[in-house]
Amino acid sequence: MAENGIRIEGLSKRYGSGDRAVDALKSVDMHVEPGEVIGLIGPSGSGKSTLLKCLGAVIEPTAGQMVLGGKTIFDDGWKVGDLRSLRRDHMGFVFQAPYLIPFLDVTDNVALPSMLAGTPNKEARRLATTLLEALDVAHRADAMPSQLSGGEQQRVAIARGLVNQPPVILADEPTAPLDSERALAVIRILNDMARRFETAIIVVTHDEKIIPTFKRIYHIRDGVTYEEEGEGRGFE
Ligand SMILES: Nc1ncnc2c1ncn2[C@@H]1O[C@H](COP(=O)(O)OP(=O)(O)OP(=O)(O)O)[C@@H](O)[C@H]1O
Ligand SMILES: [Mg+2]
Repeated sequence: MAENGIRIEGLSKRYGSGDRAVDALKSVDMHVEPGEVIGLIGPSGSGKSTLLKCLGAVIEPTAGQMVLGGKTIFDDGWKVGDLRSLRRDHMGFVFQAPYLIPFLDVTDNVALPSMLAGTPNKEARRLATTLLEALDVAHRADAMPSQLSGGEQQRVAIARGLVNQPPVILADEPTAPLDSERALAVIRILNDMARRFETAIIVVTHDEKIIPTFKRIYHIRDGVTYEEEGEGRGFE
């Protein structure tokens, strides 16, 4: 496999044990090539967030294999010692709720992951500004998160997820609070990002506005995935 893609095989996740056990993922197979943006679609409770959390090394799968950028990160147990630096250096997250840091302004919220990864503050802020411009929120660069609309907060959170140009981006409902034009703008940015930086991107969504943009879609139901060709209009 080329660098930076994602490959998941036979992944399972059981929450709890005994009578209370929930098999959230049963046997998930999935691959995302570098430069590809795939959609992950499924009903509430089907295991979408669980899958992203496993892949993001936020929770530990029960069994199976996860390969990231040619490196096996999980094979019936973690294969990397430092999960925190794996998350910080290799993954960008865009969550359903923006989770911005309330006492930092917009620019610093976006620049922070880059500063934490060792980029000089000035350079990190410059990167942040470029992304804020691309996401059409640069005019709010000095505002505090509480002063932003829901859609603006979401675009800032997306900029933050992209700032370290991670090889993998995991996005859980990134466009839900956005209007049609802005939702499509976000998908366009993710596609540009994927192409320019060979990023592998998984987008969990119910959003009818963006579903037609995916070239490939995985459906998940009761913890099992099925692959489907998308309408594939994409953003060529
Ligand atoms: N921490 C937990 N402990 C026990 N069960 C859990 C836990 N988290 C999730 N589950 C269960 O695992 C299953 C999958 O949940 P998950 O959050 O992955 O679904 P989802 O597809 O993201 O749903 P939604 O679209 O509502 O966000 C559900 O049955 C859920 O109740
Ligand atoms: Mg979820």
